[in-house]
Amino acid sequence: MAAGYLQEVLKFFARLLTKPTAREDRFGRAFTRVWDGYLNRLCSKVEDNRKDRLFTKTDLVAVNFNTYLEIVNNRPGTGFTRSEKTMSSPSKTILQIDASARKSGSVTRELSGKLVERLQHRYPEAKVVSRDISQGLPFLDEDWIGASFTDPEQRSETQRKTLALSDTLVAELKAADTIVIGTPIYNFSIPAALKAWVDLIARARETFKYTEDGPVGLLEDKKAYVIVASGGTKVGSDIDYAATYLKHVLGFVGITDVSFIAADQLMVDPSRRDAALTRTLEIAA
Ligand SMILES: Cc1cc2nc3c(=O)[nH]c(=O)nc-3n(C[C@H](O)[C@H](O)[C@H](O)COP(=O)(O)O)c2cc1C
Repeated sequence: MAAGYLQEVLKFFARLLTKPTAREDRFGRAFTRVWDGYLNRLCSKVEDNRKDRLFTKTDLVAVNFNTYLEIVNNRPGTGFTRSEKTMSSPSKTILQIDASARKSGSVTRELSGKLVERLQHRYPEAKVVSRDISQGLPFLDEDWIGASFTDPEQRSETQRKTLALSDTLVAELKAADTIVIGTPIYNFSIPAALKAWVDLIARARETFKYTEDGPVGLLEDKKAYVIVASGGTKVGSDIDYAATYLKHVLGFVGITDVSFIAADQLMVDPSRRDAALTRTLEIAA
């Protein structure tokens, strides 16, 4: 049902995008037939995959739609997902952020550790910066907000000190090519420490800016992996305010190339931990 609807939407845009002249000649007609078949296969693939993977429907459509645009625009060879492109260039700095309050037995720490290990193996020259935020980070207060919204040139010494930790976290994020975040779901959302981290890195003029068209993220060309563990909450479901929030807020600061690894519903099915581990190793292979 959903796949049928998706197919109609894609076909509509495909027709809009295909040049009229191309559609009128023989190549155009043949291409349209191939494209229709392609969409059918794509849509059944979406249905097969969507049960197990987060945001698969969007990702698949984006990947395949790029390939289609390439054909239409005669630009072969660029039809890769952003993540594939990013993964093929060497990473220089990996920022690892762990938010689980558990030091031992933590699923997210195990997976983030394995992922970073793999990335290091792939990029031996990479520098790894680890930030364990589980002990908490300061919350924003009135002084912080005042300092943040004061022009950098006008800031007092006290205001500069107030922003020092935020400056360090922003600098770490700016310097990283790859960001690995390991986070549990606590009470349907991210741990308070991770929210505090988000508050400290979401800085106007540093990681996003206001424009006439609304806010624009300033962090470009970064790849993020987010490992999310939960007991019962399905990642990507209506009651998941962790992965969906992180996807949005990372995009807000410009980090749009994000892969999610869900080690979710572990109380329901503990074998999902192994499945997530396999996926982690595959993703970084
Ligand atoms: C304080 C607390 C709150 C939790 N809240 C949720 C929740 O809302 N939904 C859920 O599915 N699991 C919840 N869990 C389970 C954890 O998400 C799960 O145990 C996860 O594996 C923890 O990550 P870690 O293994 O990296 O420590 C909660 C666990 C704790 C300790």
